[in-house]
Amino acid sequence: MSFHLAPSILAADFANLGNQIKTVSDAGANRIHIDVMDGHFVPNISMGEPVIRSVRSITKLPLEVHLMISNPDFFMEEFARAGADSFIVHYEGNNNLHRTIQKAKDLGKKIGVAVNPATSTPVLEEVLLELDLILVMTVNPGFGSQHFLHSTLSKIVKLKKIIEQYTPHCELEVDGGIDASTILLTKEAGATVFVAGTSIFKSPLGITKAMQELTALLNTSTPKS
Ligand code: DX5
Ligand code: ZN
Repeated sequence: MSFHLAPSILAADFANLGNQIKTVSDAGANRIHIDVMDGHFVPNISMGEPVIRSVRSITKLPLEVHLMISNPDFFMEEFARAGADSFIVHYEGNNNLHRTIQKAKDLGKKIGVAVNPATSTPVLEEVLLELDLILVMTVNPGFGSQHFLHSTLSKIVKLKKIIEQYTPHCELEVDGGIDASTILLTKEAGATVFVAGTSIFKSPLGITKAMQELTALLNTSTPKS
């Protein structure tokens, strides 16, 4: 089983973004997670097309764009042109999720669907086979540096079983409050992709050591209890 670490640049120093992306890349990051927020779907504004385009110009790592916006269909084409490799859209608030998924595929991009802490797994049943990735939000979306919600672990376990049974190629990602003390809990529950912002970019150990610590935890074999 291979595990992927996806640093979230939401916690990066934007005045030094290029260097920080190079640092996580040299330390073995597998993809870059870009959080797009519109101040409407979530109560925060973050970044958009110019940042995606700039990041694209300085790294070959896959760019995973997490759309916390009210109308993802409206922006996907522009973000694809800017260099996004995959999109993650939310189940919540999307009345035409199947169409959104299709749009990403038409653009030749990978597609994931995110579910918030209050959303249960059965809502994904009808689109499951279309997905490259499912993202379990382990905090409520909108902000970095929040505390990991342990109540989301049972949902990861449930989704892992469903994925293994029906669509084994589908990745299972976690996002929010992932650090050295929570990453193993989510790995044991079945996650395969781990987004981390604060615990990498704001680590007192420095970015490289923080990456090494998380990577070492992912590579440690943990006996099932
Ligand atoms: C939250 C974002 C996350 C955020 C995670 O809405 O989707 O990607 O950057 O940040 P940390 O790792 O600080 O919880
Ligand atoms: Zn995110």
